[in-house]
Amino acid sequence: MIKPTPIAEIVATGRFLPDNVVTNDDLAERMDTSDEWIRTRTGISERRIAPDDMGAADLGARAATIALQRAGLEPGEIDILVVSTATPDRWLPSTACDIQALLKCDNAVAFDIMAACTGHLYGLSMAEGYLAAGRGEVALVIAAEKMSAILDWNDRTTAVLFGDGAGAAVLRPSNGSGRGILSSHHQSDGKLAELLYRPGGGALDPISQSVLDEGRHLLKMQGREIFKNAVRSMAEACDIAMQKAGWTANDVDLLVPHQANIRIIEATAKYAGIPMEKVFVNVDRYGNMSSATVPIALDEAIEQGRAGPDANVMTVAFGAGLTWGAMALRM
Ligand code: ACO
Repeated sequence: MIKPTPIAEIVATGRFLPDNVVTNDDLAERMDTSDEWIRTRTGISERRIAPDDMGAADLGARAATIALQRAGLEPGEIDILVVSTATPDRWLPSTACDIQALLKCDNAVAFDIMAACTGHLYGLSMAEGYLAAGRGEVALVIAAEKMSAILDWNDRTTAVLFGDGAGAAVLRPSNGSGRGILSSHHQSDGKLAELLYRPGGGALDPISQSVLDEGRHLLKMQGREIFKNAVRSMAEACDIAMQKAGWTANDVDLLVPHQANIRIIEATAKYAGIPMEKVFVNVDRYGNMSSATVPIALDEAIEQGRAGPDANVMTVAFGAGLTWGAMALRM
């Protein structure tokens, strides 16, 4: 098989996590749960929660500033700004436009995409397409999530799972070194939307007293069904992206999966044939930060030397929609 020639490569990454650490014991003080239940069912020990006055745009701009500094770029050099978020600060305009104003990257076209936890991978592919079409030289792809703002803090089945954070990646056309996005596979299934969703508060059921009283604007999830679909879809996406990249499981130096739950991560790695020593895990420290988990994990992996130059990195994610996808990267 002819090895794919990458069109675009990640030249720098960044992350931002709010300072406030909330442990499982902290949660057990306010709801009927325990550190033991949360750790054994999910692998999560603690998560970060952003302060009231810090929204998704603020989180995203902070992560992006670090990525831009590392790339040696000025905000004015960004041509394309793609933001994934399930927690926009406002319904209008996009969080991307708010981040554009914060960063002062006035030359960029800025827009949001909504693909829940898979958003960063979708965003990278969208930016790759812009670069491939010659519509720019620098793309900034940000994932910014303030999950704490959409949780029902009276629902222990969801409130313990999520956290806040943001990650960013700077993408540029590949320079012929063979580094970059080797392949990707994305998919969605709208028939399963109601396994993980916010039923009210949008155009069909606008914010009203009844929406607020019944909490229809907050996250609802069918955990077991999500679990099964997540493992099957992520394993399949990994296989397809590996095949397209001309890799076998042995070629993968590091798997950077969406960090929802350690049991989902372990099962996905097992189906994909990748041993846990080659899997990056930080769900214990941050919980599930929706689309921000993959870029934050990738940034930490790079910092720890686990995704250094020429490493073969497989990223994979799954989320509401349902959406899922995988991407093979030569770093
Ligand atoms: N603390 C204590 N007990 C709890 C808690 C809690 N936080 N939450 C639920 N329980 C109880 C339930 O009420 C139930 O009690 P019962 O038997 O008396 O009725 C019991 O624990 C078992 O509940 P289940 O829902 O069957 O527990 P399960 O083993 O399926 O684990 C979990 C639940 C962790 C949510 C699991 O289904 C899961 O990980 N699902 C995937 C969800 C996920 O990661 N979603 C993220 C979004 S999508 C994505 O990013 C991939």
